[in-house]
Amino acid sequence: MRIWIVGGSSGIGLELVKRWLEAGHRVVASARHAESSDALGQFKARYDGALCCVDTDVSQPDTLAQSASRAWKAFDGIDLWFYNAGAYRPMPSDEWDLKAFEMMTDTNYMGAVRLMTHLLPRFKAQGYGRWVWNASLAAVFGLPYGGGYSAPKAAMVNLAESLQPELARDNVQLQIINHGFVKTRLTAKNDFEMPELMTPEIAAGKIVAALETTGRFCIYFPPKLSLFLRLLNLLPYRLSLAMTSKMLT
Ligand SMILES: NC(=O)c1ccc[n+]([C@@H]2O[C@H](COP(=O)([O-])OP(=O)(O)OC[C@H]3O[C@@H](n4cnc5c(N)ncnc54)[C@H](OP(=O)(O)O)[C@@H]3O)[C@@H](O)[C@H]2O)c1
Repeated sequence: MRIWIVGGSSGIGLELVKRWLEAGHRVVASARHAESSDALGQFKARYDGALCCVDTDVSQPDTLAQSASRAWKAFDGIDLWFYNAGAYRPMPSDEWDLKAFEMMTDTNYMGAVRLMTHLLPRFKAQGYGRWVWNASLAAVFGLPYGGGYSAPKAAMVNLAESLQPELARDNVQLQIINHGFVKTRLTAKNDFEMPELMTPEIAAGKIVAALETTGRFCIYFPPKLSLFLRLLNLLPYRLSLAMTSKMLT
């Protein structure tokens, strides 16, 4: 399989690159400094010819046509496009920072929208493909202090819901992943206890296994946190917001 992962230089993305290379896939790994990444450089040395690194900054719209073109040409087409770029800053309303919100919106949402604009005609011409967007369980229900991160993720999920039937008609399968807390540099910013915290290895293993075994539109894990948030989403706001107001510190 030919895979383009955007956000493949650290954390969950880097672990996915490792697993896919081990499994014999050809991978294009992108991030802002993918080409100079030591970790990706080591994979390149080990899996000669199977890994191509393409520097891509999803917050720079004018550069993305070229990134998409380089990624597409690396292995003469893409079977799986995995959008994994993400940025997080906890942001209470009394420390609201518009620039930080725009940065998270660029990375967590607009980057996927910008890249799909360049990729869509190529996938249509190819006649098949699979897109997987890594959203977050945070997209299921907005929680105090996390809106800067979760609102763009929720927009991404909503867009995916709307695109899925149209893309399926063109033989392009779109899936999203809503998973919980993973121990990476992203969550190192959290000063609260994270329920069911996973390592990047565990999270990547679950993602790879789910992609191999299910065509479900949304892949959720871990089960307990996912169930809690999905139930919260089903409750009347009177109850759900009363519960989330208890999370205020
Ligand atoms: N960790 C969690 O608990 C958790 C939970 C749910 C969902 N997720 C999602 O999982 C994904 C991976 O997160 P992670 O925890 O593994 O974090 P991470 O280690 O910080 O990885 C984020 C990746 O995105 C890339 N990236 C960031 N800004 C970018 C930009 N402007 N252009 C291109 N690439 C960019 C980063 O590379 P550079 O910085 O080098 O560009 C890196 O490769 C994210 O989408 C995140 O929202 C994480």
